Amino acid sequence: MTLNTHLHITAWGLAFILFAISVVLHKQGNAKASKIVQMILRLDYLLILYSGGDLIANYFSDSPKLGEAIVKGLAGIWVIAAMEMTLAKLKKGKPTKSGWIQLVIALLITLILGFGRLPGGLM
Ligand code: HEM
Repeated sequence: MTLNTHLHITAWGLAFILFAISVVLHKQGNAKASKIVQMILRLDYLLILYSGGDLIANYFSDSPKLGEAIVKGLAGIWVIAAMEMTLAKLKKGKPTKSGWIQLVIALLITLILGFGRLPGGLM
């Protein structure tokens, strides 16, 4: 496994932890702390995008799995969008169900393609 794969996995692992903390803080009525954690989460998105973008670049040279890698990347961006959407709805006091559903679907696609279909450590 390359250094960048480690960075990628660490970055999205951290994102889930920060996302969960931000949600819990908001539910506990601590909107300000929740907002601060969300700002750190947004910086972490940059690490996810950077490492994911670098991983995807490997497939552009000559790989039969380029299509799957692109779908994997789009699903990953969708995971980020779903986290943002869920937090935004939570803050506005709107129902968050659609955000959570999207998060689960996008995450399943991302994990299946990331761990199941693409070679991973090979890169
Ligand atoms: C929170 C969002 C994301 C999650 C949960 C996620 C999850 C994963 C997982 C589980 C792997 C497999 C690692 C391995 O096999 O060692 C992976 C690899 C990869 N990810 Fe992501 N990812 C996310 C965001 C992104 C984004 C935004 C992009 C593109 C811009 C991206 C592009 C890639 C690529 C190209 C690989 C390499 C696949 C391989 O060679 O096996 N990911 N990601």
